[in-house]
Amino acid sequence: MPSFPITRPRRLRRTEALRRLVRETHLVPGQLVLPLFVRAGTGVRQPVDAMPGVDQTSVDELLRDAERAARAGVGGVLLFGIPDHKDETGSSAWDDAGPVQQAVRALKRDVPDLVVITDVCLCEYTDHGHCGVLVDGDVDNDATLELLAREALSHARAGADIIAPSDMMDGRVAAIRRALDEDRLTHVPILSYAAKYASVFYGPFREAAESTPRVGDRRGYQMDPANADEALREVRLDLDEGADAVMVKPAGPYLDIIARVKREVTCPLAAYQVSGEFAMIKAVAERGWLDGERAMMESLLAIRRAGADIIITYFAIDAADRLGR
Ligand code: PBG
Repeated sequence: MPSFPITRPRRLRRTEALRRLVRETHLVPGQLVLPLFVRAGTGVRQPVDAMPGVDQTSVDELLRDAERAARAGVGGVLLFGIPDHKDETGSSAWDDAGPVQQAVRALKRDVPDLVVITDVCLCEYTDHGHCGVLVDGDVDNDATLELLAREALSHARAGADIIAPSDMMDGRVAAIRRALDEDRLTHVPILSYAAKYASVFYGPFREAAESTPRVGDRRGYQMDPANADEALREVRLDLDEGADAVMVKPAGPYLDIIARVKREVTCPLAAYQVSGEFAMIKAVAERGWLDGERAMMESLLAIRRAGADIIITYFAIDAADRLGR
């Protein structure tokens, strides 16, 4: 390539029309997914402190949010349940009448075009707040697998379009795949949270999902933020076990991981812009220290440019609205 003054990259940046013509990365509303927090009752809408604009809702209110999302062109929703009852094993997780199961049925009936993804994990359902069952104070991997499979089965029977395990137990994709297939739910895909890091950026979510561990932390099962090679190993293992798509989480602070995973896999790649990433942008915009809408769009564009096909984000409706303008 000839150098300056023959080559002048600014020539193609001169007008918005030129910039649009040569743009490499595009955000599409249909590939955004909105997380929703569902609990029992009717007419419930309880704001989450550290996540302005995000509420815990009952199923009837959830349907309104889902309809808004669908109108904006958002591709799907990701459901988290907040049960009335928590216990040692998280048994509400596979209650066929639980909030998530009811929400799935209502969504498939009333908003059929939205893809309904359910988060499969025990942390919202256990009284100790860990993502699996405790044996001698430690999360027991193999004992947890069967419970996760039960939860996944219950979601799939309710009509979930995609099952998304976020617990980070070893072997859970295989266990869930087997359970689904034995129940003739061979058509239900698994999106595994393959590379999920033990991140401080989940802070606001734990308030939203009421899932903070009572003792200890999640570093014994979620990944060390210092590791990148290990993310590829996790992804390969999950794909070998039958995952149909994989996820990297969080997204913004882990763009290098998204880019590396994207180079390695041929399946769809999702990235989760988590609660803390959302809260940071909201907080700084609230102070007037930067333009919140532009920060939202740039952060999402960066995640997409790094290689994510699907982006899970609390900004899904706002971003889709903005893209449609
Ligand atoms: C459940 C789960 C968490 C998130 C998604 N699924 C919390 C955690 O692992 O502690 C975080 C999502 C967010 O921060 O937005 N295991």
